[in-house]
Amino acid sequence: MELKEIRENAKKLCSKCYVCENCNGRACKGMIPGMGGKDSGEAFIRNVEAFKKVKINMSVIAENAPISTEFNWFGHKMSMPIFIAPLAGINNNYGASMSEYDYNLEAAKGADMANIMAFCGDGKDVDSLFVEPYKAMTSINDRAIITIKPWVKEGIDLRLKLIENENYACLAMDIDSAGLPLLRNSQIPVENKSVDSLCYVKNRINKPFIIKGIMNVDQALKAIDAGCDAIVVSNHGGRVCDETLATIEVLPEIAKACKNKIKVLIDGGIRSGYDIFKCLALGADGVLIGRPMGIAIIGGKAEGVKTYVDKLQDELKSVMVMTGCHNLHEITKDKVIVL
Ligand SMILES: Cc1cc2nc3c(=O)[nH]c(=O)nc-3n(C[C@H](O)[C@H](O)[C@H](O)COP(=O)(O)O)c2cc1C
Repeated sequence: MELKEIRENAKKLCSKCYVCENCNGRACKGMIPGMGGKDSGEAFIRNVEAFKKVKINMSVIAENAPISTEFNWFGHKMSMPIFIAPLAGINNNYGASMSEYDYNLEAAKGADMANIMAFCGDGKDVDSLFVEPYKAMTSINDRAIITIKPWVKEGIDLRLKLIENENYACLAMDIDSAGLPLLRNSQIPVENKSVDSLCYVKNRINKPFIIKGIMNVDQALKAIDAGCDAIVVSNHGGRVCDETLATIEVLPEIAKACKNKIKVLIDGGIRSGYDIFKCLALGADGVLIGRPMGIAIIGGKAEGVKTYVDKLQDELKSVMVMTGCHNLHEITKDKVIVL
């Protein structure tokens, strides 16, 4: 299956996403529900645009050895450091009539085929937006990363109890969902999490704990204090707060503060192997991709994921050749120039 065919299929199936060739937040700005960034949409747009300010530093006088993109995530061997980002509300946001179960099943199957890993999301309706996604993913393998929203204790306890005996890889919390109006006003609401309440979650699980939604060094240090194992530098794809910096802009400082302490992932605007290379060079261990993965899943199911990941891997490997890198550890800061 070709990428063009995947996009054409997705275009027919999505009534709320324009399936733009370049998914940059311009056509859909402010569209929530929908695929846009919040309000002016500038945070989403900036996430994408900021990658243009990072340039590749070509360096081809190098040893002519094989190139490997292999990656290890808490004992799980992966073909490259890519994760499918959690996306909830497929019907409501893409306007595609695919159930949450089927979406997450295809995401997990595709991740399995491509040997990457996938996060599943969470939402107000515990059965359709939390249970169905994790059940779908855990039916494929033990590599699901289950994400929970920053609910008040009652909502956290309910979800942790549900997954108590499930075989999954890591637990994540998208702490940046604390301000989402729909969730803030629900019967069991979300809240801002203190270091203590994050410690509470970490102490209740025996899996790596990932905190998603970190945008500065102070927050990263608090995540470390809470005992988390990894963070995702993320502004939720620009969907939770307008006018933020781009994630790639804040990454270098955060990665420096976290070095040798916890792992650092990043998402927001990552579209190509070039973008992945730039993230790794600026200190990330790996990347999450949101909206374009959704298009790949809706338009091409598991095979769509594999096709997209293959393209990303070809691009990443070609940049590695052109910068003299043979493995991910060799992708260092001097391999890029920040304008
Ligand atoms: C429609 C939609 C639904 C999302 N749902 C969730 C979710 O349930 N949990 C979560 O942590 N992030 C969620 N996100 C944020 C993504 O996981 C990710 O941070 C963001 O999409 C990355 O930016 P990108 O789409 O530019 O790659 C959602 C994003 C979109 C567009």
